[in-house]
Amino acid sequence: DNFMASAVGEHGIREEDLIAQGDRLDGLRERLRIWRDGKEPSFLGLPFQTDLDEIKTLGNRMLKRFTRFIVFGIGGSSLGGNMLVQTLGRRNDRRRVRFYDNVDPITLESLDRIDWNETLLIVISKSGNTAETIAQFLTVLPRMERELGAQCVHEHVLVITEEPKGALQQIAERLEIPVIPHPAVGGRYVVLSAVGLLPAYLAGVDIDGVMEGARAMADRCCQKDIRENPGLWQGAAQYLLAENGKTISQWMPYSDHLTLVVDWYRQLWAESLGKHDPQGRERGLTPVSAKGVTDQHSQLQLFLDGPSDKQFTFLTSPDLLTAGERIPTRFADLPAVKPLVGHTTGELFGAEFLGTRETLSRRGRPNRTLSLLQGDAFAIGELIILLEVETVVVAELMGIDAFDQPAVEESKVLTRKYLDEMKTIRGL
Ligand code: PA5
Repeated sequence: DNFMASAVGEHGIREEDLIAQGDRLDGLRERLRIWRDGKEPSFLGLPFQTDLDEIKTLGNRMLKRFTRFIVFGIGGSSLGGNMLVQTLGRRNDRRRVRFYDNVDPITLESLDRIDWNETLLIVISKSGNTAETIAQFLTVLPRMERELGAQCVHEHVLVITEEPKGALQQIAERLEIPVIPHPAVGGRYVVLSAVGLLPAYLAGVDIDGVMEGARAMADRCCQKDIRENPGLWQGAAQYLLAENGKTISQWMPYSDHLTLVVDWYRQLWAESLGKHDPQGRERGLTPVSAKGVTDQHSQLQLFLDGPSDKQFTFLTSPDLLTAGERIPTRFADLPAVKPLVGHTTGELFGAEFLGTRETLSRRGRPNRTLSLLQGDAFAIGELIILLEVETVVVAELMGIDAFDQPAVEESKVLTRKYLDEMKTIRGL
């Protein structure tokens, strides 16, 4: 379901304008084919090139030995795998895969309770120099050594990194920790490699299904006609809406198990699109998330009557409609209870989504709905590629590079400056 139906009148986009964007995307479409066919390293080649047998063989070996898995990494080195585990991981399983993507000291304290004998640690960093990931690893290392014996630590750690000169590679070599190569693809685009798929496989995710869906969508996104090409069509629609003042990409997942899709997407979209174009103009659409139905009780007021600066994406699972307990007939005499009785909680969930979407459409607030069944690995694979292609389409139309992130470096430099100042103050 796309933006066209709801984006009408002054808030709308016209079909002919959308089709016209197709001509501006000829060059990109060529590159998409080159990427898909693996002639240059890229996210679009990963579904065809990632060696799943290798991941499964390693994963099976690890599953025989460990029941607990911890992933250290940040940004692209964490969000994709975490999303796959949340959306598709086997629930109520003995195995547990947990992601630590921050250096909040209170959260990290919970690592004190880890039974390292039962645990495999996967440390992921493309550059191998990321401060947070190195800090996480180096602070747990002494605990692991105490519990396992220094000579056994390497059996409990795997490293995924690309940069041979990076600190993580050096540490791995010194401690004889096995290293899995990180592909030459940027962090936020790398989920369909060992980075995302190894943790996912350990959590019981059907990684074959994910890759099948990803390949199918990659092929669709190489279609010549923009009307047949969902990545080009949807990306161009979002670009036109942004040009029309809808510069906030407001997502609303109606499924607790799909919330991390939005977290992953926010990184992809923000880090890829928020930058200066060649004329020095500040570009980008701000990706934000509100949770259905919870945030209907707060943010929906703003969405309906506030500024019309948003384009909405609903993420839903139609199978949730029939899920859940029936609401009992008790207290049916009370007016607030009566409309609920006999319905499943899934029906209430679905009715609330339909109501919210309709109120937005009535006001001409552009929205689209992405529907996928719970636990549908194929659909998640399709969705990952669709959103990645949409991102590069918007970047192309805005005239910016979707794969760099020049501004985030500035904060890293300042972090190091503050660390040095703290050292001086503490006399270190
Ligand atoms: O997409 C990106 O480039 C970033 O978000 C990185 O994934 C993030 O900064 C982590 O980098 P690294 O994998 O080098 O530790």
